[in-house]
Amino acid sequence: MNKLYGLLGHPVRHSMSPLMHNDAFKQLGLDGYYHAFDVPEDKLKESIAALKILNISGFNVTIPHKVTIMKYLDDIDEEAVMIGAVNTVVNIEGRLIGYNTDGRGYLTSLLTKLNKPLGNCNVLVVGAGGAARGVVTAIANEGVALLSIANRTIEKAVEIKKNYLKYREAKLNVLSLEEAERNLALYDVVINTTSIGMSPNVEEVPISIGNIKKTAVLSDLIYNPIQTKFLRLGEEKGLLTHNGLGMFVEQGALAFSMWTQQNPDTDRMTKIVMQQLGGFSC
Ligand code: ATR
Repeated sequence: MNKLYGLLGHPVRHSMSPLMHNDAFKQLGLDGYYHAFDVPEDKLKESIAALKILNISGFNVTIPHKVTIMKYLDDIDEEAVMIGAVNTVVNIEGRLIGYNTDGRGYLTSLLTKLNKPLGNCNVLVVGAGGAARGVVTAIANEGVALLSIANRTIEKAVEIKKNYLKYREAKLNVLSLEEAERNLALYDVVINTTSIGMSPNVEEVPISIGNIKKTAVLSDLIYNPIQTKFLRLGEEKGLLTHNGLGMFVEQGALAFSMWTQQNPDTDRMTKIVMQQLGGFSC
């Protein structure tokens, strides 16, 4: 009998997770099936109860449920608690356990691009929303020389900093977007975690990179379009750039490994998502 996996979100019709996971099940000869469930905000509790009765083996969680779901789970992994959001749930003998693979997925992908150890890098994270929380936690847990968070609403960046420091020590500071632009030459890695530049608003950039250093790596969590204007401007300056496709694939691959104890082929996953994106109007 097929084991059931899925995605809970709203909306989910454009999600590439079903394609990516179902192909991996087939490739590895596993009898799994992954379905995207469109779950409105007020139906989350009932949906989880129903999936538990149906003995779902595991699922992903996406917008708008990543925070709300935490109160309906039987246990939550420490990293997900630090981040304050869950994107992956594993059913262990009838108990639903929440994890967050977004930050580690991002980090795994970023590390393939860096030309020096992360521990020697000054890192700037632009944005202080849900995506930033995962990235900040994963990077701070890994250890960096300096980690700065810049956001339009500075209070939200302060909140992320305070929350992290409740759990662990880290060299963390907070900047306005203008301060970040002025001090950009300080950073080895600059990461956009905001939605600025995402399709259809492809002509927008989160910050100006006039002061960035030539050896910096410029990273964007967005993968639709694959190359945002932010990354294009970086490439024109000769910078190393890193898009959000790797994070999407790696967070999915980590979830898949937790569910099945098998590692999927991430190169193949990347190709599948790329093909699908080609069909998108970016
Ligand atoms: P996600 O969960 O995807 O991170 P989010 O929680 O809504 O989404 O966060 C979006 C981020 O993009 C925030 O940092 C937001 O800045 P504010 O905290 O000031 O709202 C940032 N953002 C979105 N649109 C922006 C804009 N036009 N200018 C500056 N920042 C923007």
